[in-house]
Amino acid sequence: MVSPPLVTTPPAAAAPPARLAPPGRATPLARTPADVHRVLADLERPVYVVRDAAGIALTGDEQAAAAAGQVLAAAGPLPPRRLGSPAFRRDHGVDQAYMAGSMANGIASTDLVVNLAQAGYLASFGAAGVVAARVEEALADLRRRTGGRPFACNLIHSPTEAAMEREVIDACLRHQVRCIEASAFLDLTPQVVRYRLAGLHRGPDGRVVAANRVVAKVSRTEVAELFLRPAPEALVRPLVEQGLVSAEQAALAAAVPLADDITAEADSGGHTDRRPLAVLLPELLALRDALRDVPGGPGGSGGGWSVRVGAAGGLGTPGPSPPRSPSARTTS
Ligand SMILES: Cc1cc2nc3c(=O)[nH]c(=O)nc-3n(C[C@H](O)[C@H](O)[C@H](O)COP(=O)(O)O)c2cc1C
Repeated sequence: MVSPPLVTTPPAAAAPPARLAPPGRATPLARTPADVHRVLADLERPVYVVRDAAGIALTGDEQAAAAAGQVLAAAGPLPPRRLGSPAFRRDHGVDQAYMAGSMANGIASTDLVVNLAQAGYLASFGAAGVVAARVEEALADLRRRTGGRPFACNLIHSPTEAAMEREVIDACLRHQVRCIEASAFLDLTPQVVRYRLAGLHRGPDGRVVAANRVVAKVSRTEVAELFLRPAPEALVRPLVEQGLVSAEQAALAAAVPLADDITAEADSGGHTDRRPLAVLLPELLALRDALRDVPGGPGGSGGGWSVRVGAAGGLGTPGPSPPRSPSARTTS
C-alpha cells in the first residue's frame, strides 16, 4: 500500500572511498545470510563487497572494507528520503516521496495515518464504506492528532450514491483536510471538482495556489486524462450557480489540472483493471507528457503545472501475478 509517487532514478550516491583501518581493529565482515541481510538493510550506510583470505563478505564499515584487502564493489547509502520526487515532498510537506494508499472500511485507520504522518509519509484514511458520522469523527481526530502534519482522506467514487461523495467532501472541507486520494473514478463528479476548486486562490506573487491537493489513483488512461486536464466547464458552472465555489475560483480552475498527482494503480488490492505495472506506468507517463503542452493540459494554460505520476501495485512482483486463492491475499 505504499506508493512511491514518482519513479525517478535515485541520485548517484558514490560510496565513500575505503580508508585504511587502524592496526589491530576488529573487522566485522558479514558472511552468514542473517549478517548479510543486516548490512543490506542498513540503508543509511554504504555497502562494500570485499574479498579476504576467508572468501567474499559484505560490510558497511569503510575501515573494515579497507582492512579486508580487496574491495570488489561498493554502493552508496540510499535511504528512502533520497528516492522519488523532491517536488512531491515539497508540495505535500512530507519527508518521504511515498504515499500509503487508502484501505476501505477504516483498514487504513486513524492510528495508521497518524503513525505514518509522524514518520513523514503521506497516508490516506480509508473512508470508503465508512458511515458519514464516523468519517467526520475520524477527520476531526486526525486533525487533532497529526499536529499539523499532512494526511489525506479517500474519496471513493460512488456512481450510484452521490450523497456518499458529498458527505466525504463536506467533512474534508469542514475539517480543512488538504489532500484527497480520489479513486475508482469512471468519470468526474461534482464533488471532486468542488473540492479542488474550493482551495484555489491567488498567492501574493499572483500565481494560482491549489490549497486542496488531489491524488488521483487510476488504472486507465482515459480516466487519467480527466484528472490531467483542468476541470470541465460543464461541472464548474453549476458549482458557481449553487454558491459552492466562487466565480474567481471558477475562473482560476482553467489554469490548473484537476490533480497534482496520478497514481498508476496496477494489479493489487483495490479497484484496478488488473493491469501489470510495466504496461500501465509507461502509458500514463506518456499521456502526461503528451498533454503537457496542449491547451487545457497540465502545463498548457501558462500555469507551469506538472502532474507527477507514481506507481502502486505489483511493485514487489513485477512478473505475471500468481493465481489467487482466498488464503493468498496480498497484504502490504
Ligand atoms: C485490503 C485493501 C483495501 C483497499 N481499499 C482501498 C480503498 O478503499 N480505496 C482505495 O483507493 N484503495 C484501496 N486499496 C488499494 C491501496 O490503497 C493501494 O492503492 C493498492 O494496494 C496498491 O498499492 P500497494 O502495491 O502498495 O499495495 C486497498 C488495498 C487493500 C490491500
